[in-house]
Amino acid sequence: MNKIIDGIHVKTYGEVTNQSIIFIHGFPFDHTLFKNVINEFKDEYYCISYDIRGFGDSEFNTGQYTMESYVEDLENVISRLKLYKPIICGFSMGGYIALRINEKLGGNYKALILANTITSNDNDEAKLKRAAAISNIDAKGIEPFIDKFLSVAFSENFSKKEPLKLEKIKDKIMRLNPIGIKGGILAMVSRTDTTRSLKKIDIPVLLISGENDQIISPDIMEQMANKIKNSTFVCLSDSGHVSMLEKPDEFNSAMRRFLETV
Ligand code: MLT
Repeated sequence: MNKIIDGIHVKTYGEVTNQSIIFIHGFPFDHTLFKNVINEFKDEYYCISYDIRGFGDSEFNTGQYTMESYVEDLENVISRLKLYKPIICGFSMGGYIALRINEKLGGNYKALILANTITSNDNDEAKLKRAAAISNIDAKGIEPFIDKFLSVAFSENFSKKEPLKLEKIKDKIMRLNPIGIKGGILAMVSRTDTTRSLKKIDIPVLLISGENDQIISPDIMEQMANKIKNSTFVCLSDSGHVSMLEKPDEFNSAMRRFLETV
């Protein structure tokens, strides 16, 4: 079912009486990032995905987003759908949102699934790279930025083996509004460090990483897992950053094994 909640395009799948899982995509994707995962789980779980403001079909408004405003949008979606203790599943930038909402409102969720994400915020070098990316988008448009992003986000193996899939992914990203993309970059720069919240987490957490993730290394995610009382860490072999697209079966199996314990 499709819903629009304050400009945010939300999709729901499955029975509302089932345990809910809300999926938060990464940058610069949209809700379809989790299509395979939702197909796998929608008969047993009430699955919700949405386009983060500025991405997919959601409104892009002024493009002045912060991580806090992304978190407020998510709070609003959860409360308008009246979700009781949802499982939150966030990938990369979606993980930043998941980690922050958990830090802010911990206790309201059944479990967390964190894919290819990190708790620390941008250091100065990363901030300068983001600033240069915004300038380059203004000067040259989004295509060179997207080409560079895709070359880092996907493993060499995937890029070689699946050029058509990669082309489709690029086409979809090319349709995004530059205002939304630049706003997403600024929102990531504005995020706080959520590392200290890891020790306080007392719900089950699954952390999924990719062996060849060049954006967020598996070692860092393993260190995060070590700080959480009830955590499961999975590193998908031969996967780059976008693990649910590179290794869909392995991603789903890791999720299934975890969900059976929740
Ligand atoms: C993402 O995949 O959401 C972003 O690449 C994360 C980031 O740039 O920090």
